[in-house]
Amino acid sequence: MKLHYQLNAAFTALLLVILTVAGFVIYSLLLNLLVQNEQQQLEQKGEILVSALNEQYQSFSDVDRIYDFLQEQDMQLILYNSRENRVLVSTMPGSVVRGFGRNNDFSDTQKNVWEYRTDKFVTSRITILPASSNLELILLTPMKDLQAVRHTFVIRLLIVFIIGAVVAVLLSSILTNKLVTPLTRLKYQLKKIEKRKFDDIEPIRATGEIKEVAKSVYDMANELNRYIRSQQSFFQNASHELKTPLMTIQGYAEGIKENVFDEAEKEKGLEVMVNEVKRLKKIINEMILLAKLDSEQASYHPKQINVAALVEHVADRVLPLAAEDHVTLKKEVAEGMYIYADEEKMLRALLNLVVNGVRHAHSVVKITAAMNGKQKMLVVEDDGEGISEELLPHIFHRFVKGKQGETGLGLAITRAIIEQSGGKITVENKSDEGARFVILFPGNA
Ligand SMILES: Nc1ncnc2c1ncn2[C@@H]1O[C@H](COP(=O)(O)OP(=O)(O)O)[C@@H](O)[C@H]1O
Ligand SMILES: [Mg+2]
Repeated sequence: MKLHYQLNAAFTALLLVILTVAGFVIYSLLLNLLVQNEQQQLEQKGEILVSALNEQYQSFSDVDRIYDFLQEQDMQLILYNSRENRVLVSTMPGSVVRGFGRNNDFSDTQKNVWEYRTDKFVTSRITILPASSNLELILLTPMKDLQAVRHTFVIRLLIVFIIGAVVAVLLSSILTNKLVTPLTRLKYQLKKIEKRKFDDIEPIRATGEIKEVAKSVYDMANELNRYIRSQQSFFQNASHELKTPLMTIQGYAEGIKENVFDEAEKEKGLEVMVNEVKRLKKIINEMILLAKLDSEQASYHPKQINVAALVEHVADRVLPLAAEDHVTLKKEVAEGMYIYADEEKMLRALLNLVVNGVRHAHSVVKITAAMNGKQKMLVVEDDGEGISEELLPHIFHRFVKGKQGETGLGLAITRAIIEQSGGKITVENKSDEGARFVILFPGNA
């Protein structure tokens, strides 16, 4: 069942329960209230009557006139002598009064509803003063009258309830519609995501939690879109990168096989083939490493590493290459600095940066390690030509490389390692010359 109907059904059921309970309570209390109210009114009337009697006839000497007076009243009453347990006069037919006498004990002053056949009467008794007269005026109202009042009241109540319920259900329908419509729209957008039609996704109008859910859905779609695109470009780039050396190798291998080269060319061909195979191996190794880093399968063994020792280690490894390129390595490392990371992987990350630096530097590559406020900062900079503006925003992406580039995977690996260690890496061109890579670790890393 649709959510819209479910909500409406639940609301209507709730409304019905509330109205039924309210109706039942009102119905059962109503008669009691009416009886009480009627008794009060009878009492008031009785008192007026008695005071009128008192005024007109002072004492109750002239009994006949009193009887006449009472009999003229347009109400149901009985004048009762409690000492003699006798009805003196009544406006009701004699048979009815006798019937009352048979069914009810007139002397029981507590009982205020009398029965006569199937009828009931609400009674109110007023003692006529002085008490020594032993006279009581008993006023009566048939219960039927009260029940008729209750009947009309209940019918009106029912009409009000029905109108109220219809309005409430209509209102709830409008409200739930308003609530559910954005959800339905969101469902359509999700269908588009399912079919990967990311460009067709439209924003929906919503408020509150639905708005938050919609935002999460859009974020998820963007992330998914980005991921799919990066995977596509990764495969395109990877196959391209693998194909180029393979074609070179194929070309030379076929040439050698078909004897189209002289000795010197053959020799050169073999050298190129060996180099290309090495390059292929490097690309494949780096791709495997990146895939592992990505899938977090790479066993990552973090521990406290002394940064000075780490930089020393990096320098030792790069020194031969630097000497070959006539590049000086400078180090400026704060003592006693530690970072919490996997040592081997951090070495790899820094080596990638420093080897790049040496390859692009004119004469100097500098490694700095220092505190930057609460953060730990590692900087690798050189005095080369810097990174071209169009390459700069994408430099950490896979297979992005410049003219002298090799695999284009080194910086991607470096970034993956740094981020896995909880750090951040950025790059900028220095104002004078060369590139500067800055790694920041939070103070507690
Ligand atoms: N210090 C640097 N100075 C200038 N360009 C650099 C520097 N480091 C990296 N680059 C550029 O970034 C590209 C990508 O680097 P990297 O991911 O390490 O791949 P690779 O070194 O295999 O080419 C390089 O090809 C180069 O063009
Ligand atoms: Mg590199």
